[in-house]
Amino acid sequence: MNKFTVLGIETSCDETAASVYKTDVGVLSSVLFSQIDLQKEYGGVVPEVASRSHLEKIRPIIQKALDDAKCTIDDIDTIAITTKPGLPGSLLIGLCFGKTIAWAKQKKIIGVNHLEGHAFSSFLENNVPFPHLCLTASGGHTNLYLIHGFGDYIFLGQTLDDAAGEAFDKIAKLINLPYPGGPEIEKLAKEANFQDFFKYPRGQANTLNFSFSGLKTAIMYDLIQRGAYDLKAKKFLKEDDLELKKQVASSLLVCVKDIFMQKLNFALKSHPQIKSVSFVGGVACNKYLKSELRTFCETRNIQFFSPSPKYCTDNAAMIAFVGHYKAQQGKFDDLNLDIF
Ligand code: KG4
Ligand code: ZN
Repeated sequence: MNKFTVLGIETSCDETAASVYKTDVGVLSSVLFSQIDLQKEYGGVVPEVASRSHLEKIRPIIQKALDDAKCTIDDIDTIAITTKPGLPGSLLIGLCFGKTIAWAKQKKIIGVNHLEGHAFSSFLENNVPFPHLCLTASGGHTNLYLIHGFGDYIFLGQTLDDAAGEAFDKIAKLINLPYPGGPEIEKLAKEANFQDFFKYPRGQANTLNFSFSGLKTAIMYDLIQRGAYDLKAKKFLKEDDLELKKQVASSLLVCVKDIFMQKLNFALKSHPQIKSVSFVGGVACNKYLKSELRTFCETRNIQFFSPSPKYCTDNAAMIAFVGHYKAQQGKFDDLNLDIF
C-alpha cells in the first residue's frame, strides 16, 4: 500500500480550513477559522464577505496546519482541495491557492467533493463497517447515502427543499433567536426537557427524501394562531415569552428527531444488509439527536457512529481523508482541476 502525506484544503462556505493527514498515523493537524462572528449580523452567509475572509485567512491557516503537524510543505506529497459543492467565490480561493502550491512545489493534486468528505467523516476516528448508511445533516445539505466502500456510494435520498440545519436556522429566526439557530434551539429544548408540546407535522414516512420548508411554514402558522407572529410585519410578537420559545424549540427538535428516525427506519428496512449507521454534518453536533439516534440503532443491533463536533462541522481533515484514499486508489487530478 502506498503511503501519502496529504494537505487538505476546505473553503466551500464560511470556514477556512486546512489539515494534514498521513498514512498509518491519521490526522496530524486540523486548523480552522470560522467566519461565524463576521456573518452573524447578516443572519446567514454573505458570499462576498466569505470570499474576502478566505483570501485573508488561507495562507496563515495552511501554515498553521503544517506547523501543528510539525512538518513543512516539503513533507507533503498530495494536496486535496474541496472543489464542490459550495459558494463559487469561496471554492475558487481554496482551489487557486492549492493549485499554486501544487504547481510551484510539484505536488500531486486531488479534487474532493465536500459531501463525500462529510459522508466519510466518521471514518476519521473509527473503523466503520460496510455496508454503511450515512445521514448527513448540515446547513446546506440533508442527504442519505448507502456506502459500500471508500469512494463507492450511492444517494438514497436528499432534501427536496430546505436542509435540516437551514430549517433550524430559519425557525430560530422566526422566534428571534440568533444565528446559527441549531445550538440555540438545542439549549432551549433542553430546558423544556425535550417535550413535544405542539406536535408539528412529521411529513411522509415512506420516502427517503426529506422536506423541511413545510415544517417551517407549519410552525409559522401555528405561531400566528397563537397571536405570536405578525405575518405582514414578519415579526415575532412574544419576545418576552421565554416559555413559548422553549416550547417551540423543544417541539421542533423532537419533530426533527422523529423525521430522522422515520428515514433511517425506512432505509434499514429497504436495505437490510446495512451493518452501521452514521450521523454527520453540523446538525450532528446536537447531543439530543445523537443520543436518540444511537439508541434507535443499537436497539436494532446496528453499530452507530457520529464524529466529534470538530469533525461534524466543516473541516479540512475530512477532505484530507478523502484525498488520502483517492491517492491510494491512484485517482489524481491535474492542474486543469476546476470547481464544480
Ligand atoms: O456542517 P455545518 O457547520 O456547515 C454547513 O456545511 O452547512 O452546519 C451548520 C449547521 C447550521 O445550520 C447550524 O444551525 C447547525 O449546523 N447546527 C446545529 C447544532 N449545531 C450546529 N443544529 C442543531 N443542533 C446543534 N447543536
Ligand atoms: Zn459542510
